[in-house]
Amino acid sequence: MKNILVTGGAGFIGSHVVRLFVSKYPDYKVVNLDKLTYAGNLANLSDIEDRPNYKFIKADICDYERILEIFKTEHIDGVIHLAAESHVDRSIKDPFTFARTNVMGTLSLLQAAKVYWESLPSGYKEKKFYHISTDEVYGALAMTDPQGHKSDISSHEVYGDDFFREDTKYDPHSPYSAAKASSDHFVRAYHDTYGMPTVVTNCSNNYGPYQFPEKLIPLFINNIRYRKPLPVYGRGENVRDWLYVEDHARAIDLIFHRGKEAETYNIGGFNEWKNIDVVKILIKTVDRVLGRKEFEDLDLITYVTDRQGHDLRYAIDSSKLKRELGWKPSLQFEEGIEKTVRWYLDNEAWMNNVTSGDYQRYYEEMYGDDK
Ligand code: NAD
Ligand code: DAU
Repeated sequence: MKNILVTGGAGFIGSHVVRLFVSKYPDYKVVNLDKLTYAGNLANLSDIEDRPNYKFIKADICDYERILEIFKTEHIDGVIHLAAESHVDRSIKDPFTFARTNVMGTLSLLQAAKVYWESLPSGYKEKKFYHISTDEVYGALAMTDPQGHKSDISSHEVYGDDFFREDTKYDPHSPYSAAKASSDHFVRAYHDTYGMPTVVTNCSNNYGPYQFPEKLIPLFINNIRYRKPLPVYGRGENVRDWLYVEDHARAIDLIFHRGKEAETYNIGGFNEWKNIDVVKILIKTVDRVLGRKEFEDLDLITYVTDRQGHDLRYAIDSSKLKRELGWKPSLQFEEGIEKTVRWYLDNEAWMNNVTSGDYQRYYEEMYGDDK
């Protein structure tokens, strides 16, 4: 495959995927297709934007005619589909946008790929449609003893007996995860109905550089820096399974090239943490890096009203990926958090640009405001 379409490449995970592919595969043309919503920022790719094998196209995945045209003119052989509305809190306020982008946008992309690939003499040979999904489609896992675990940040624990496996029944709870689940079903339907070579992965919570500061880790790093309150939902007992974003990008590379057709792979770090413990690690690390006394800012923790329908625990079993393709995470959580904290503290201009919205005004001038 030579011409790869990455959707959502200006977002958090997409920018790491684009950077990896552009750097590792000089003989591929990597086309980054992104609408540049509030979450898309081309500054995330400023280090590779001049590479000859990289091309950016501003487009909406819901615009079927335009997407079909792009498949034809760019001779797309493979798709890595990340474009989505991704923030659970926004989906609770505005579910329609999530259904439009995540469901209809994915369908429009699938149909464009189908029409274009079926028009070629070689058909689906050496083509691939890779859909990036989330562990949230599986719902929430029980905790064996939610109150019984003491808050111990020296090591993480396993907070239950169950894990999300590839055959776990779908049970989404938020409008975000319901829309992602629906898009996963459409991808599998295009394989089963039309024979499109597809692959789906469901990944746990990512963290690392270039994440939009509405998500827990970048938001809290910035708030600790400026000594703003840290709004912990509920009692902070919810558990998430954290993976460093570059490890996710490596998994995507491996699965794109070696994953089996029509398969599902779960991606996760076997790295469960209660939110409150993540927050304490962030406070400890930011304080130390800024030369403050460790834990000096613990009093910024502010317990606020819980997220509606807040899933209690996510934990991924990624043993299939390890067994079949040899992938495993490269970083321990503490190392990943240290790198992440240092990146956000060193990149104050990026953070200020994103939080002020300046980058959006710049793109509107450059590309026009089609929202
Ligand atoms: P993000 O919100 O940072 O980026 C999404 C990108 O998609 C942005 O660049 C945005 O401009 C673009 N986009 C949105 N609507 C579009 C449209 N209609 N047309 C074209 N582009 C559009 O998201 P992320 O955290 O990088 O997540 C990327 C993908 O990975 C999503 O599909 C998400 O569901 C999935 N995922 C994320 C995580 C995580 O922890 N962040 C974990 C598992 C799976
Ligand atoms: O599990 C994968 C998912 O992880 C992805 O599919 C989503 O795109 C991604 O946003 C993420 O979803 P979460 O809802 O788990 O991530 P978020 O960073 O929003 O929240 C992490 C946890 O922290 C969650 O339990 C809610 C809590 N939280 C979050 C925020 C923003 C707080 O307590 N306070 C906050 O201000």
